[in-house]
Amino acid sequence: MSPFSSFRQVSGTNSAKPTAKEEFVSWRKLFSLAKPESNLLSLALLAQMVSVGTTMIFPMAVGKIVDIIQLPNSVDQLKWMASALAGLFVVGAVAVTVRVALMTTIGERIARDLRKQVFQSLMKQELAFFDGRQSGELVNRLSNDTSVVSKTLTENLARGIRSSVTTTGGIGFLIYLSPTLTVAALSFIPFLTIVGGIYGSYVRSLSRKLQDALASATQVASERISAIRTVRLFAGESIEVGRYTQRIEDAFQLAKKVAIAEGFYMGGGFFMGQASLLAVLWFGGHQVLQGALTVGQLASFAMYAVNVGFGVSSLANGYGQLTRAQGAGARIFAILDRKPCPLTGIEGLELGSSYSVSSHTPTLENDRPSLIFDQVHFYYPSRPQHSVFKGLSFQVEPGELLAITGISGCGKSTILSLLSRLYIPQQGHIYLNGYDINSLDISWLRRQIGAVPQDVVLFDGSIVENIAYGAGEEVSMDEIVRAATIAGADYFIRQLPYGYETQVGERGLSLSGGQRQRIALARAIVRKPKILILDEATSALDVESEASISEAVDLLRRKENMCTIVIAHRLSTLRDSNHVIVLNKGVVAESGKFEELIAKPKSFLSKLMLISEGHGLEAADDEKLEEPSRAK
Ligand SMILES: Nc1ncnc2c1ncn2[C@@H]1O[C@H](COP(=O)(O)OP(=O)(O)OP(=O)(O)O)[C@@H](O)[C@H]1O
Ligand SMILES: [Mg+2]
Repeated sequence: MSPFSSFRQVSGTNSAKPTAKEEFVSWRKLFSLAKPESNLLSLALLAQMVSVGTTMIFPMAVGKIVDIIQLPNSVDQLKWMASALAGLFVVGAVAVTVRVALMTTIGERIARDLRKQVFQSLMKQELAFFDGRQSGELVNRLSNDTSVVSKTLTENLARGIRSSVTTTGGIGFLIYLSPTLTVAALSFIPFLTIVGGIYGSYVRSLSRKLQDALASATQVASERISAIRTVRLFAGESIEVGRYTQRIEDAFQLAKKVAIAEGFYMGGGFFMGQASLLAVLWFGGHQVLQGALTVGQLASFAMYAVNVGFGVSSLANGYGQLTRAQGAGARIFAILDRKPCPLTGIEGLELGSSYSVSSHTPTLENDRPSLIFDQVHFYYPSRPQHSVFKGLSFQVEPGELLAITGISGCGKSTILSLLSRLYIPQQGHIYLNGYDINSLDISWLRRQIGAVPQDVVLFDGSIVENIAYGAGEEVSMDEIVRAATIAGADYFIRQLPYGYETQVGERGLSLSGGQRQRIALARAIVRKPKILILDEATSALDVESEASISEAVDLLRRKENMCTIVIAHRLSTLRDSNHVIVLNKGVVAESGKFEELIAKPKSFLSKLMLISEGHGLEAADDEKLEEPSRAK
């Protein structure tokens, strides 16, 4: 049994769907996120307590003033009370300033740190993790979930503490002022608690559905906007508007239900609050008439009762927000706690460094790299029923130019993914200079490979930034120009209005397909790779440009002793290779020198060339090339 078989299982069973555990996180774990900020947070909470204290004293002071002004010769007392109150307001104002400034800063710091950690964790995950997830959903975790969590750990926490203190303290004052009246004032609380509980669970389940509906509408919008060219070309605007409208309408229907429920709850709460205030004034009024209570005490009482009412409703509200944050926290922890697959993910990720050196990094400097695929069996983890390779074996000699061809979907691009260890084969081995690539440091391994993928994606930024991206570290302008020249890009770049500083637009879409390919080739070359893989890298170029680039790349290959793999359909691209392999049904169907294979009319290569020259499968005679086997 291979020493890596246990790892292979990890990648093979890697679930991409969120589990039940992802739905909820404990309060403890949620609040552990605020731990690094505990000192500042304590200071902010202290300021909060001071400001709450000042508001708590206020109704009592008002009551006292009301009673004082009814006494004769009370001007001095009134002055004293007014100055004391003014002092109290100043203290309160300072406390509020400190609390708001601190809380907001702490909230932003928590959000910043969380976003950094979540993004870092995302960057470490293996490709299979992303296969089953929507990018919109992951971006949502980065932006919305982190902000919900940071708000809960700061503002909502502060509000919760304030509400608890105003509620319990307020009830204390109520009892101190008049125990009997307190019963009348608080008679609404049990009712509100029951109704609040029912309302809370109803709205929570609706909110979750609403969140999902909104996320799905956003996903449609962002995908269609980024693919606006395709929508336009197929005149799909009205279909897309219809699709988006449907999703947003679904979300609206849910939001309407939430709004109605909220309306009833707020209206009911408002009525209960007013009714209990009326009860206070009614019974309290009688007590004042009987001399059991002063007018000032009744005024204080009424104000505390209002405070308690607000406190209770704010607590109920805060509880709802806490539940939301528990959901958001769970989604964040699902990423933070996720250990990337040991063989295909990144284990250590140092900020700013292009790769980590954690395990085996052999020296290839004096070696001429060779490559061996040995009995490789592979299926994509997200599609286990479809075997792409069923015992694929081939070899690339040091410094050799190998061409790989085969019909669409036969697994050519998958070879690049396996070699870069984006995925690992379920069986078999891949060796680089005799080392099983699974034993090598993953980032080091990828540093050895310069690849031009089939679907070239450039990043929004300048051409020079996009080429330098390949180097993964500081690189001189001379090296960039040299790489661009070999890739046949220097000439057209210089003709652009801003030359190397020209912005390429989102995903490089402001350049032509062929220009993008040439920049991608320069990006691969500037890396000074030991192995260069070109996956249909010149498919968008005319034959003449292709020939001159091939020649330049070939010179580089000989000079640097680079192993080069060219994946192509075109006769012109295949012709220059030392060796051609034809993939079919998950194995190498044919292998040899180009001239020898093409000379045999019955060879796979000859048939493929007939197909690619437009004669169709029929022309390829009796022994047809087939799509690789499905669902075995
Ligand atoms: N991420 C993926 N998840 C699941 N299946 C995939 C994935 N990528 C490719 N496949 C499947 O694996 C098979 C091989 O794909 P691959 O991209 O290697 O083909 P290819 O030979 O490069 O084709 P083409 O000539 O069209 O580029 C195809 O059947 C494809 O549908
Ligand atoms: Mg491909």
